[in-house]
Amino acid sequence: MAYNLLKGKRGIITGALDSNSIAWKVAEKAHEEGATFVLTNAPIAMRMGEINALAEKTNSKIIPADATSVEELTNLFTQSQEILGGKIDFVLHSIGMSVNIRKKIAYPELNYDYYAKGVDVSAMSLHKMLSVAYKMDALNDHASVVALSYAAAQRTYPFYTDMADIKALLESIARSFGYHYGLTMQNLFHDGGYSTTGVSDLIMQKSGITEA
Ligand SMILES: NC(=O)c1ccc[n+]([C@@H]2O[C@H](COP(=O)([O-])OP(=O)(O)OC[C@H]3O[C@@H](n4cnc5c(N)ncnc54)[C@H](O)[C@@H]3O)[C@@H](O)[C@H]2O)c1
Repeated sequence: MAYNLLKGKRGIITGALDSNSIAWKVAEKAHEEGATFVLTNAPIAMRMGEINALAEKTNSKIIPADATSVEELTNLFTQSQEILGGKIDFVLHSIGMSVNIRKKIAYPELNYDYYAKGVDVSAMSLHKMLSVAYKMDALNDHASVVALSYAAAQRTYPFYTDMADIKALLESIARSFGYHYGLTMQNLFHDGGYSTTGVSDLIMQKSGITEA
């Protein structure tokens, strides 16, 4: 059931790769609630072509942009304002990628080129997006910017390897840019009895989630 909660709101939604992507579901809901928005993803992700179905379904335009490129992000914010007819009310940063995780490289043995790539794509990209928007004054008053973190930013989840560090940086950028941009950053979490360890390898094995 829709309530027109986002009627008249203009947005930029990153990270919808296929129907399993969090951003895909957000785009469907935002459309249901009356928002208009631009979809964007890395040019390489466009090759899969699935985003075209989402664009058709939500009556949206697609602007390819590599979130590590300030030039492409500048083009994204320029074109989005032209297409949507004004400043932006909401941005969803739903971008994450770790080659170390993909290649199953354990935390003590991280590859630093992959690590640096992960930092750039998954955390520094939020700084770059906000910096571009700030310099262009592209966000409306009371605009919302949402980025997606994970509990491993605050507590140890061994399998999350470099993404744990990267999410901690993402959260710090949200706090710091919140201060400089005059935005409010709320970091909500619920401590279900955790201390500093979210989950251990032993618990994962005993639960039958991973093999010993
Ligand atoms: N799925 C989960 O359980 C979960 C849990 C916590 C946090 N998150 C976070 O939510 C966000 C979305 O994840 P998801 O589960 O939907 O996965 P996903 O793989 O569908 O989304 C990640 C997106 O990042 C895009 N991307 C990668 N490199 C890029 C680049 N250089 N420029 C622009 N876009 C690029 C990918 O194309 C993809 O669309 C990520 O930040 C992820 O870390 C996910």
